[in-house]
Amino acid sequence: MTKVAVIGATGLVGSTILQLLETKNIEISELVLFASKRSAGKKIPFKDYELTVRELTEAATKEPFDYVLMSAGGQTSLHYSPLFEENGAVVIDNSSAWRMNPEIDLIVPEVNHPSLDRKIIANPNCSTIQSVSPLKILQDAFGLTRVAYTTYQSVSGSGWAGIEDLNRGERGEDPLNYPYPIYDNVLPHIDDFLENGYTKEEEKMIDETRKILDLPELPVTATCVRVPVKSSHSIAMNVTFEESPTVKEVKQVFRNKPGITLKDDPDHLEYPMPIDAAGKDDIIVGRIRKDNSLENTFHVWSVSDNILKGAALNAVQILNQLLKEETK
Ligand code: A2P
Repeated sequence: MTKVAVIGATGLVGSTILQLLETKNIEISELVLFASKRSAGKKIPFKDYELTVRELTEAATKEPFDYVLMSAGGQTSLHYSPLFEENGAVVIDNSSAWRMNPEIDLIVPEVNHPSLDRKIIANPNCSTIQSVSPLKILQDAFGLTRVAYTTYQSVSGSGWAGIEDLNRGERGEDPLNYPYPIYDNVLPHIDDFLENGYTKEEEKMIDETRKILDLPELPVTATCVRVPVKSSHSIAMNVTFEESPTVKEVKQVFRNKPGITLKDDPDHLEYPMPIDAAGKDDIIVGRIRKDNSLENTFHVWSVSDNILKGAALNAVQILNQLLKEETK
């Protein structure tokens, strides 16, 4: 008997979590949906019935939930996750609020496993997830000594508000969410700027990569860019290895790996694009080639549905992994 709460059930990530709980046939006996007061009473179809969205309150945290899937922003998570945890639930949180807390596990199921020292598990940043999955494979095969990221991130990474701004731009209206139009434009700016000139998004990718790969000293740098694409992020990764493999050997390590598809045949114009990844579970990698300016260094292009593997799917996979361990 597994009782699950989805917090932020009306949001882009929350509603995708609901679809996945349905389509992946996750074994749960009771599902309760929460959002803000605004959405209380809203009916959401699930399987062959309807669920009514409830307002998230402190009283709700006292109910006997086994798992809480939280996608309602950092402030909501900081307040409510410890209350659910105190009451015995395991919280899988999509916000950035807990990720770098040393007591908290930051999990990509293909890469690392939760210690469950605390019952809050953090789901990493969307761009981090689709980077560390291929990087873990490369680390195991050739040893990593440096990573440089440039991202091309879709507007759905900003939730409904990002999609709305792209639609508004298309209609010639001013943006509401971003500081400048995203339609017909590119913004080298995701999340707030820090004193060192990086953005918080870039800092998240750097810190979370080191934490998940358990390589705290790994040199990592990032430039994060918002592009006028609705779904799926693309990331150019420039990766330096301890070893000196051939291009063929680097391509080979991605074959038959769970959650990864290799699409790399330039002669036939085969390379990963957002239109390939949107709606798919796998991270697609390609454009693998030697960086001719640096020793032992390769370019790897990674594309993934940021709402699926980058958020909702990863959270549901964490839940599934925990449920499987329970039944062992
Ligand atoms: P609501 O729809 O009632 O505002 P998105 O990332 O797509 O913007 O979604 C954010 C999600 O987080 C929504 O489901 C939103 O609910 C929910 N949310 C925002 N603030 C709160 C809050 N204080 N308590 C519960 N849910 C919240």
